[in-house]
Order: sequence, then C-alpha cells, then structure tokens
Amino acid sequence: MTNINETLENPFRPGAGHTPPYLAGRNLEIQEFDRLLKQNTILKNLIISGLRGIGKTVLLESLKSVARKRNWLWAGTDCAESVSVSEETMAMRILTDIALITSNIKIGTINRN
Ligand SMILES: Nc1ncnc2c1ncn2[C@@H]1O[C@H](COP(=O)(O)OP(=O)(O)OP(=O)(O)O)[C@@H](O)[C@H]1O
Ligand SMILES: [Mg+2]
Repeated sequence: MTNINETLENPFRPGAGHTPPYLAGRNLEIQEFDRLLKQNTILKNLIISGLRGIGKTVLLESLKSVARKRNWLWAGTDCAESVSVSEETMAMRILTDIALITSNIKIGTINRN
C-alpha cells in the first residue's frame, strides 16, 4: 500500500509571483505570445489583465523566457499601481526600463578619421 502523502506533493506555491512547479493551463497564451513575437511589423500587442491572484505575474515570468529565446529584450515585469496614475508616469517608467536594458548596446561604429 502507498502512502498518498508521500506520492503527491501539493503543486501550489503560495505567495505572490511564486512560480508553481506546474504551470497549469497556459499553453494557449504562451503559443499566442510566441506567434505575436514573430510579426515582421508589430501591429498587434498583448495585454494581460485579470483578477487578483489569477496568475498574471507568473504568466509574465514564463513569457519572459519565450521572448528572450527569440532575441527580444525584456523590460520590467511588475510595476506599482502609482505608475499607472497618468500617461506621464507610465511613459517615464517605460523609458527608464528601456534605458536600463539598452544602455550597453552598441550600434555601428563612429569613424573619427
Ligand atoms: N498557471 C498556474 N498554475 C499553477 N499555479 C499558478 C498558476 N498561475 C499562478 N499560480 C499560483 O497562483 C498564485 C498567484 O499567482 P500570481 O502572483 O502570478 O497572480 P497575480 O495575478 O499576479 O496576482 P496579483 O493580482 O495579486 O498581482 C501564486 O501562488 C502562483 O504560484
Ligand atoms: Mg502580480
């Protein structure tokens, strides 16, 4: 006879943004995101919204590695509610995040001869 407590580990990881051992039911979302990354000209974006605790942060974390595999840079996963107060604060946050991840990228060379 097998002790059920020994064979079944609770797959839930309590706590905000904690990656669960099994990411349940997100294959379609991941596939859709991957499809959007392949656009030559970006015409479609993706917004993830949902009730408190539905799994937005965890899903974003898994989309991050999908994006990186396709050579996209990833800026900022979570931001405080205060950031969305106005377009200006949102723009400032986005620009700050982009500046951070692009600051060591060199494009071309300057010929000073
Ligand atoms: N697809 C999933 N499969 C299993 N567990 C999950 C899944 N998505 C989220 N969880 C679990 O649910 C909990 C809440 O997830 P998460 O913090 O990502 O939610 P959230 O939508 O970002 O919450 P909040 O609205 O508070 O920011 C975490 O414990 C996480 O491990
Ligand atoms: Mg969250």
